[in-house]
Amino acid sequence: MSENPLDNEPILVAEGVSRRFGGLVAVNTVDFTIPERAIVSLIGPNGAGKTTFFNVLLGVIDPTAGSVVFRGRRMIARPERVGFESLLWVLPAVLLGLLSGLLAEAGIVSGRLVALLGFLTLMLLVGSLLLAIIRPVWYSTALERIGIFRSARPNDMVTAGVGRTFQNIRLFQNMTAIENVLVGMHTQLHGNLLEAFLQTPRVKAEEKAAERRADDLLTLVGLHGKGNEGARNLPYGDQRRLEIARALAANPKLLLLDEPAAGMNPKETLDLVALISKLRDDLGLTILLIEHDMKVVMGISDRVTVLDHGEKIAEGTPEQVRKDPRVIEAYLGAPAA
Ligand SMILES: Nc1ncnc2c1ncn2[C@@H]1O[C@H](COP(=O)(O)OP(=O)(O)OP(=O)(O)O)[C@@H](O)[C@H]1O
Ligand SMILES: [Mg+2]
Repeated sequence: MSENPLDNEPILVAEGVSRRFGGLVAVNTVDFTIPERAIVSLIGPNGAGKTTFFNVLLGVIDPTAGSVVFRGRRMIARPERVGFESLLWVLPAVLLGLLSGLLAEAGIVSGRLVALLGFLTLMLLVGSLLLAIIRPVWYSTALERIGIFRSARPNDMVTAGVGRTFQNIRLFQNMTAIENVLVGMHTQLHGNLLEAFLQTPRVKAEEKAAERRADDLLTLVGLHGKGNEGARNLPYGDQRRLEIARALAANPKLLLLDEPAAGMNPKETLDLVALISKLRDDLGLTILLIEHDMKVVMGISDRVTVLDHGEKIAEGTPEQVRKDPRVIEAYLGAPAA
């Protein structure tokens, strides 16, 4: 790792990403890379396409063009030949069914063996459908080899190492703080349903460890001792921190924060800036920030990218961007900025 995080290898590369909503081009052919361990920001006026771009990176919505590569793997792009996939689910079963039919017809197999082949055919069908639902990485990779591509969904992105918080807080309001973090941890737990039901020692140990880690995460974001408070009863700034703790629970490498300082008072904002820096420096996380608060953006970003009407109009260090005439016109020149 070099001194300047911008020189690091990219953890994420988005190429030519576009997203239309009907006639509206919300994101227009945006190239965007995020170097590992960098803090990069995306700014732009209301409606510039920031959240839409985020949602494409997260697999929430499909791009209408372009692709997203995360840690060397193409995760998101326009779907290719997905119709053929369903053919693959039934093809093995159909072939085996036909084969058993032929063998029975020719008198090569009979009685129990025919029944067994029928059963195998059924199992093959169930098996390939299960595979299509669970979609392990090797399955997607094999599909890609034969030219079938389906974009990653948000859960795939979480498993791959992308965490996020929302522009509008979306906590489980009726749960306690620690329960919210534990929910975020579920991709990291290994016990299965049966083990959980039987409360085996392994499951108990795992639950204990999960609670300890959830506690640590609450401490990390500054919510020490508030684990048992209901999420809805926490002050606004704490709810924002809790969202970050929940995102961290899934062990992300890249964290996407959509306007984390929105609605915070100056003290809360300062604490947030310190927390974001700590996440990078202590946990080695890479961070992409959407933020309206220029003090936050200019204070902690290694690089700032400006979107306007879906297009990237500037990119550079905070100093470069601050001086850019197009940015001043589109954004910083606005009275409220
Ligand atoms: N699901 C949708 N259907 C139709 N239009 C949409 C949808 N989502 C976003 N848009 C439009 O796309 C454009 C970009 O919106 P987006 O929410 O990405 O902007 P933003 O930069 O995040 O704005 P803000 O700063 O207000 O959060 C807007 O014109 C918005 O109305
Ligand atoms: Mg937005």
